[in-house]
Amino acid sequence: MGTCSISRLFACFLMVLWSGRLHNANACYSSIIRFGDSIADTGNRKYLALATNQYFSCDRPPYGQNFIGQSTGRCSNGRLIIDFLADSLGFRLMPPYLNIKGRSGVAALRQGVNYAVAGTTAMNSAFVEEQWYGSVVFNRTGCLRVQLEWFKQSLPFICGNTTSDCRNFIGNSLILMGEIGGNDYNIPLSLGKHIDEIQPYVPLVIDTIISAVNELIEMGARTLVVPGNFPIGCFPSHLTVGEPGVYGEHDPITGCLTKLNQFSEYHNKMLQTKLNQIRELNPNVNLIYADYYNAAMQIYISLDEYGFTNGALKACCGSEGPYNFNASATCGNVSTILCDEPDTYVSWDGIHLTEAAYKVIFKSLFQGPYTTPEFYSVCPMISTSQATARLSSYI
Ligand SMILES: *[C@@H]1O[C@H](CO)[C@@H](O)[C@H](O)[C@H]1NC(C)=O
Ligand SMILES: *[C@@H]1O[C@H](CO)[C@@H](O)[C@H](O)[C@H]1NC(C)=O
Ligand SMILES: *[C@@H]1O[C@H](CO)[C@@H](O)[C@H](O)[C@H]1NC(C)=O
Ligand SMILES: *[C@@H]1O[C@H](CO)[C@@H](O)[C@H](O)[C@H]1NC(C)=O
Repeated sequence: MGTCSISRLFACFLMVLWSGRLHNANACYSSIIRFGDSIADTGNRKYLALATNQYFSCDRPPYGQNFIGQSTGRCSNGRLIIDFLADSLGFRLMPPYLNIKGRSGVAALRQGVNYAVAGTTAMNSAFVEEQWYGSVVFNRTGCLRVQLEWFKQSLPFICGNTTSDCRNFIGNSLILMGEIGGNDYNIPLSLGKHIDEIQPYVPLVIDTIISAVNELIEMGARTLVVPGNFPIGCFPSHLTVGEPGVYGEHDPITGCLTKLNQFSEYHNKMLQTKLNQIRELNPNVNLIYADYYNAAMQIYISLDEYGFTNGALKACCGSEGPYNFNASATCGNVSTILCDEPDTYVSWDGIHLTEAAYKVIFKSLFQGPYTTPEFYSVCPMISTSQATARLSSYI
């Protein structure tokens, strides 16, 4: 399968000594550990791009325009689901792993770190690229394995140099595994490949995610959130490629591509089946499935209710055309168009959602019914009623 390592450039930048106590920011979790792709990346891809002199759109205006007025590498106009989650649990905004430096950085590490990288595939990226492009064209964003390696490289600075030293730290952490795997499909979909060709890769993607989950459990993880895929048939990027008719009919209510959404559901079902198997084998582990599909779908079905008066299928930032998306002229590139009111759009750039949409999804997942079991019912350290009381005070 070849290698998927991006560079080892950053492997040694944590060479600092640390001292001090563990800081408990939250009564349920002492830290948040985040793996994933552009849905969760708070800057890793930006630092990779800087180091290798690559173009990376999410690092430029108008990305981040509604955040702190600057582009942080987040692929949206503002905050992501993870930002709302960290804030609601009393944590600072999650620092990207590749920008952890010095003593304050190591203190930050102990509160949790974001290893997510925009563009990352679950499977070995060289393998994915070879499958669909016929060769390794980009080889730039790594894969889930790279993020796990980064995590292991950070452990000595957080909790010690032995597996047993770190079991408590990992056990008291909230671990978010994904969303990851979406890009394994986005790559062939962006090339217009047929679903029949892509479907055989689903079990491989799921196995990759599941083996990462098992590895973390072996290291002591007790609370993991594992999200499924979005209803990607509603994404302007895929709707654009999907014309005319490659990905089936448009749903009469939402306008989304039914075959593509069924494909997401197929992935999600298989993921849940595997998660159930892990639950049976590990009854002491809180394994939480996050239903991104339905949390997003409720928005597409009731747009007005959430104030998305400009609809779901046109990108706020992009080009002309039925979905405001053009793969050769994506958001922030020369002569793209920016909408006036991003909060009235679900899609920010045709691939990623607006801050407003991410906020609704955050609430539906972490303060609502769209995780199994419900997120606020799970807390390894305190009782459910306390957890519920604290979380609801945030709303
Ligand atoms: C991909 O990049 C890694 C290092 O970043 C390198 O070791 C590997 O050879 C590359 N693979 C290909 C096929 O270019
Ligand atoms: C882990 O090992 C490194 C060097 O090998 C050392 O500097 C560091 O203090 C060790 N950490 C702990 C917590 O023992
Ligand atoms: C997409 O953008 C490119 C580059 O600006 C342009 O040449 C092309 O005509 C656009 N395609 C459509 C369908 O608008
Ligand atoms: C956008 O512009 C940059 C140069 O500024 C270029 O490298 C990149 O390929 C362009 N196209 C897209 C689709 O981002």
